[in-house]
Amino acid sequence: MSVSETLKKHGQEHLLRYYDELSSEEQRELLRQIGEIDWDILKSLTEDGAPRGEVSPIEGLTLAQIAARKGQYEEVGKRTVKAGKVAAVLLAGGQGTRLGSSAPKGMYDIGVTRPLYIFEQLIENLKSTCAACDAEVPLLIMTNEKNDAETRAFFREHAYFGYPERLIRFFVQAMAPSVGFDGKILMESKGRLALSPNGNGGWYSSLIRAGLLEDGFLKSVEWFNVFAVDNVLQRIADPVFVGATVSSGKNCGAKAVRKTCPEERVGAMCLQDGLPSVIEYYELSPEMAALRGADGELAYGFGVTLNYLFRADKLREIAAEKIPVHVVKKKIGCLNEAGVFVQPETENGYKFEELILDTVRLMGSCLPYEVVREKEFAPIKNRYGVDSVDTARKLLEENGVKL
Ligand code: UTP
Repeated sequence: MSVSETLKKHGQEHLLRYYDELSSEEQRELLRQIGEIDWDILKSLTEDGAPRGEVSPIEGLTLAQIAARKGQYEEVGKRTVKAGKVAAVLLAGGQGTRLGSSAPKGMYDIGVTRPLYIFEQLIENLKSTCAACDAEVPLLIMTNEKNDAETRAFFREHAYFGYPERLIRFFVQAMAPSVGFDGKILMESKGRLALSPNGNGGWYSSLIRAGLLEDGFLKSVEWFNVFAVDNVLQRIADPVFVGATVSSGKNCGAKAVRKTCPEERVGAMCLQDGLPSVIEYYELSPEMAALRGADGELAYGFGVTLNYLFRADKLREIAAEKIPVHVVKKKIGCLNEAGVFVQPETENGYKFEELILDTVRLMGSCLPYEVVREKEFAPIKNRYGVDSVDTARKLLEENGVKL
């Protein structure tokens, strides 16, 4: 089928509206982008693929339970990490729009009297695990097509913040087109589609696509510790967490913080039709949000921090399963009818994203693992206010990090 026939079939002929105005190089690039469109994801606009099921509370390990067996978990964890069985996966493919910086989020300087980049702080956290376990932890960094070169260059310029370069691999996540409310794919310029990263749930398929599972680098890896770029306090490949998850016999572990109140705006761990899942705060009814278990704690009180441990063999097993695509309303910069680029003030279309919470569900079993919020959770989503550079700075200082 020719390109124009394909576009006609999907009602997207407008993508070639400016084709004749483009240089031959731009034409080639536009055709390449069109050739890479996964037409199936557009179906998500009409068929909501996200599974829904009966929601019930999930059991997790509380701080007290962890403290009671800390020595044992730590020993198992240290052994596992030292044997090279845990790889760290840094999710740095997001756009960080809320922070409002055009550079990759990890390049943001959170220092006060000296530069301290988010990436640098994460590497420091990982180095402390390596020292504690006398181990070398492979580090995989997921970028996206737009921020990949800048991210790599930044790490190179800073000599990988002292982490051995041979232990680091970068891989690029796939992009997905954005559409207007009418389902038409938006254009960023006359020769480029408005593409955005396809969500953090795409990390494993992107790792496979990059060939990283085959080149021997991850030969000994049995667990992947996948974590967000923006929580500067998190411990990475934390031996106690690793030990607890390995000992639980579950396929996955999730670091969680206790919700401070029923209304807190954080996704909570739960079961859906018996499978581990994450329920967003707006999906919980006020009654469910306030429900308490026999221990007096909120039944849906394990707030996710986006720090997961996934068993490698289970990931391989579920790799072929289709992960649902979520349709998310966003403000998307694009060409208007007159062919002029505009950055909208309000939401004007949809992005398609795969979410890591669906990986958790596919894993079949998961151990929520409670951490002390003030010691391990300082997400940077915004410049000011809640979950911001300001709150993270305060928490880092409280934990003895000199800014
Ligand atoms: P967020 O949901 O906070 O999204 O990502 P974001 O893109 O960073 O920020 P906003 O919403 O535009 O302000 C949580 C984690 O998932 C990663 C992010 O880099 C962050 O570590 N992520 C998100 C990806 O790696 N790829 C994506 O496509 C989306």
